[in-house]
Amino acid sequence: MSPHNHGRRHTAVIGLQWGDEGKGKIVDLLTARHDLIVRYNGGANAGHTVVVGSERYAVHLMPAGILYPEKLCVIGNGVVVDPQQLVDEIDALRTRDIHVGDNFRLSDRAHVVMPYHKTHDVALETLLASARAGGGADLSIGTTRRGIGPAYADKVHRCTALRIGDLLDPEYLRSRLEVICEVRSRELAALHIDAPPLDPDDLARECAALGDRLRPHITDTTYLLHDHLRSGSSILFEGANACLLDIDHGTFPFVTSSNCSAAGIPAGTGLPGSCVNDVLGIMKAYSTRVGAGAFPTEQDNEIGDRIRERGNEYGTTTRRPRRCGWLDLVAVRYSAMICGVSGLAVMLLDVLSTIDELRICTHYRLPDGTVTDRFIPDARRLMDVEPVYETLPGWSEELDGSADRSALPTNAQRYLHRIEEIVGAEVKIVSFGPERSQTLVGV
Ligand code: GDP
Ligand code: IMO
Ligand code: MG
Repeated sequence: MSPHNHGRRHTAVIGLQWGDEGKGKIVDLLTARHDLIVRYNGGANAGHTVVVGSERYAVHLMPAGILYPEKLCVIGNGVVVDPQQLVDEIDALRTRDIHVGDNFRLSDRAHVVMPYHKTHDVALETLLASARAGGGADLSIGTTRRGIGPAYADKVHRCTALRIGDLLDPEYLRSRLEVICEVRSRELAALHIDAPPLDPDDLARECAALGDRLRPHITDTTYLLHDHLRSGSSILFEGANACLLDIDHGTFPFVTSSNCSAAGIPAGTGLPGSCVNDVLGIMKAYSTRVGAGAFPTEQDNEIGDRIRERGNEYGTTTRRPRRCGWLDLVAVRYSAMICGVSGLAVMLLDVLSTIDELRICTHYRLPDGTVTDRFIPDARRLMDVEPVYETLPGWSEELDGSADRSALPTNAQRYLHRIEEIVGAEVKIVSFGPERSQTLVGV
């Protein structure tokens, strides 16, 4: 046991594909066994769904553990926070009688997503798409348009960035915005972006008002988390986005702008990475992707359409139809390796029922004919691989009533077993529907 975990179990929930694996459902499920639920990366590009009976909750910034009033939810320093979106989310939760009070803490060092970041995100995507029309490479990412990339870029630029703590000091905020608006206006003009002029007074007033709303929640979450670690609390880390979208380890440049793999935990919380005992890798029983970028096992055909309709594969954040395809285990094995998973949760297994034959990708064939079991985290080179499939028999039964793994159809059990063999990790959770009850735990 690590000297840093003080004998308690600390778990990370991390997506192993291109997002939307069902992390929200699993965080909700595991919240009961933890005291704190902590977001460490990304922003409102995430959309995590929790279904409780007839109620469906989709959270973007708020940790999915918020449905449990006695648990402490924390947004760590590594998250980029759109304060208006956060306030709207808090209001929407309260309207549904979900308690958001001293059970929620926001890092004073999380970076702020400003309105001009969203303008910039949309404008850059438009510019990249039109450059492609002129015959260049296709480099528009298909972002969620939530200003994520520009906000993280400002963090790296440093002097043009604002942090949540800055919202609490109106005079300092105003003086910073004076300079930032000047720089930003020139940049927007240089990009020929038609945006209303930026007024530092207006922006400072709006930001200070949002800061006032969030004030009761804002604190130094690094010390808060360490205090909880020492006093024996158990922490659940809620990864946003997913390993193949990681800025360093994903399918660059078609990725998001943060470390969404386990690598993001220490940087995004201030806790040592060694405190995490269990890394639960969340994967769909097939593959999906929203936005652009290589996707070797994509099925732009009847199979893909069938998966999309059965799995209701439409984005939680943008409602875009998700691209669908066969399970790519070269990719999942790579993500499991990067994140150091100790177990897997296989989600949406029900979606595959009634497909006669299922394919899983175990290797890639490269343009020179060689075959590899190694993933290629580079979008351009990944475009050129041909998936090598293994075919497994499907099952005709719906999975709704399964009580344990041995009650699943034999071919569904074989499918899970093959995932374990190829990825080299144990399947600890199987999910066959959006609801809490449609889950096999500890299988
Ligand atoms: P996240 O971003 O990883 O939290 O995933 P999303 O919430 O964006 O997308 C997952 C979708 O699948 C949500 O609509 C869930 O309610 C739904 N879901 C989760 N698990 C299952 C499952 O086992 N079967 C089915 N059919 N739907 C599921
Ligand atoms: P959750 O947490 C699926 C994708 C976008 C785009 C790329 C960059 O719900 O799994 P960004 O707006 O981050 O600059 O977009 O990353 N993307 C996601 N896709 N689920 C997500 O989050 C995603 N977050 C970002 O579609 O291709
Ligand atoms: Mg999602």
